[in-house]
Amino acid sequence: MRTIVSLPGDGIGKTVLPEAIRLLEAAGFEANYVHGDIGWEFWCKEGNALPKRTLDLLEKHKIGLFGAITSKPKDAAAKELDPALADKGYVYFSPIVGLRQHFNLDICTRPCISFKGNPLNFIRRSADGGFEEPMVNAVIFRQNTEGLYGGIEWTNPPQQVREALETHPKMKAFKNVPSEEMAISTRIVTRKASYRIIKAAFEYAKKFGYKSVTVCEKPNVLRETSGMMVKVAKEIHKDYPGIQLWDTNIDAQMMWLTKNPEDYGVLVAENMFGDIISDGFAGLIGGLGFACSANVGDEVAVFEPTHGSAPKYEKLNPSIVNPIAMFMSACMMLDHIGEVETSNKIKKAIAAVIEEGKVRTYDMMKLRGGAEAIEQGACTTQQMTDAVIAKL
Ligand code: NAI
Ligand code: MG
Repeated sequence: MRTIVSLPGDGIGKTVLPEAIRLLEAAGFEANYVHGDIGWEFWCKEGNALPKRTLDLLEKHKIGLFGAITSKPKDAAAKELDPALADKGYVYFSPIVGLRQHFNLDICTRPCISFKGNPLNFIRRSADGGFEEPMVNAVIFRQNTEGLYGGIEWTNPPQQVREALETHPKMKAFKNVPSEEMAISTRIVTRKASYRIIKAAFEYAKKFGYKSVTVCEKPNVLRETSGMMVKVAKEIHKDYPGIQLWDTNIDAQMMWLTKNPEDYGVLVAENMFGDIISDGFAGLIGGLGFACSANVGDEVAVFEPTHGSAPKYEKLNPSIVNPIAMFMSACMMLDHIGEVETSNKIKKAIAAVIEEGKVRTYDMMKLRGGAEAIEQGACTTQQMTDAVIAKL
């Protein structure tokens, strides 16, 4: 039997992940689940939000199902560290970013596909004063390990860094800025990683019959890094004559997706730009309660909803958060390991619950989040799971 590493993490990750496992079991997917420690608690107690024992579990079993973690800025993190560990050189680092980098989970896929009947779907006013509801079917491929989120940055950069940068004429503009008053981030894009993410995007488009792949960058300004992405895309495109290659600028893309989102199929971008467009598209299909993702490397793959730990709802009992993003992430896991039939069965059941519209979480009812949402007719997290199970 297959073993899945279950990584609930923090906050509502601990709520939605067990619900996903309950659904997987009800759908007949047989697996062992082993628990992996990850998140804030382990930073505070051990100075490491991603303990080595968790990396070992993933190394062994290859597949992780992840809830969400809480991250806090550097200074806030240092304050919550066990005093016994203070001043020992521990620095907080986001464990999900750590996971992606450790296992080179460089291919991030974030499908944003509308469910019929979802009251949160994007609508557009038509010329006659009515409205239309274009169905969105966009799948974002985000380079997951490098680019602007690669983490190579400095405040008060060391002298060598400054000297290296000063070999570039544009640094003249910063000549008189003292290093202590300067922060630097880098955007490193490699040919190899660009090739892998763009190739994955085209392969996906081919497999699932999408008519276009859009590279979403900013090559007119970021001439080198975005330039490389666009160049590699043009090379790869030659092997896919049946698919159109479009390129758009990230800023313009954010505008276009609010005007004609149905025109886009597969999109591909660097780490930060991919993060931005995938949130943009997620907003059109219902937001964080619906946004799922996969982080895939050559050996290990981790599946997670894109939402965070939503600390303000963590303690609510019963819980009100929407587990569908987590369920859809579990379906991505099933697709990845070849359990496509079970995945389709679950997706169909989710679609049926949404279309019927009898059971809705607070976000689907456009209510303010809080305990009172239940009295106002919202279902609990567990009731949503029950409704989906009933439709299997
Ligand atoms: P968040 O995604 O946790 O929550 C933002 C808001 O979205 C919530 O307050 C809630 O109104 C709504 N929301 C989120 N998930 C929902 C769900 N399943 N159903 C219904 N509504 C939902 O983002 P926030 O508040 O910016 O961050 C909270 C913590 O989560 C931070 O510590 C942050 O660093 C972390 N985070 C972790 C991520 C991860 O684990 N991959 C991703 C994003 C944030
Ligand atoms: Mg994001």
